[in-house]
Amino acid sequence: MGLRPGQRVLDLGCGTGRALPALRAQVGVDGMVSGVDLTPAMLRAALREGRDADGQLLLADACRLPLRTGAADAVFSAGLINHVPDPAAALREWARVTTPDGVLLLFHPSGRAERAARHGRPLDPDDLTAEENLTPALRVAGWHIEVYEDARHHFLARATAPAPSSEHTARRPRHPPRLLYGRGPVGDHR
Ligand SMILES: C[S@@+](CC[C@H](N)C(=O)[O-])C[C@H]1O[C@@H](n2cnc3c(N)ncnc32)[C@H](O)[C@@H]1O
Repeated sequence: MGLRPGQRVLDLGCGTGRALPALRAQVGVDGMVSGVDLTPAMLRAALREGRDADGQLLLADACRLPLRTGAADAVFSAGLINHVPDPAAALREWARVTTPDGVLLLFHPSGRAERAARHGRPLDPDDLTAEENLTPALRVAGWHIEVYEDARHHFLARATAPAPSSEHTARRPRHPPRLLYGRGPVGDHR
């Protein structure tokens, strides 16, 4: 993701936390890594894998984050954006919690065509992650897309965050996390 030591990064829809070690490696011991997932079983699996050594694990809805505005320097999210009920609102929420010039990386370990073929269906032109849909969706949410790659074995879109609006800076979290797991070199994004 091009993170620097000491930065704060969120993994939204972290699942079993398999990206957390790589994110921790980028931000180092002085950085902050938080994995957020809505499914307790996923976070329990992450704990069993010892992923809480690399970041705090937060049980929360990535679309209504219990985090203050500008709490993170970067957002990483793999395999989530296609599953949230309102992707446009999610992209706005992710911009809210990210500092100006912060980074968003949407990732999937396979490309759109590969996934469509695996499910025996044609490419869906209405799929949010199609470049012609994602670029305006990001722009409307305030992100500026810089990289779009839809290759056979990976999908990634990298965008940078907007300057904060007065509405954003006035907002505060209203949805406290129901559970917070964590040990090791963690920090406080709230
Ligand atoms: C396809 S899995 C990807 C997991 C992980 N990012 C990875 O690549 O291994 C999607 C994950 O998103 C989580 N999820 C779905 N909706 C969510 C939401 N609104 N907020 C947070 N996590 C969510 C699911 O529980 C699941 O763990």
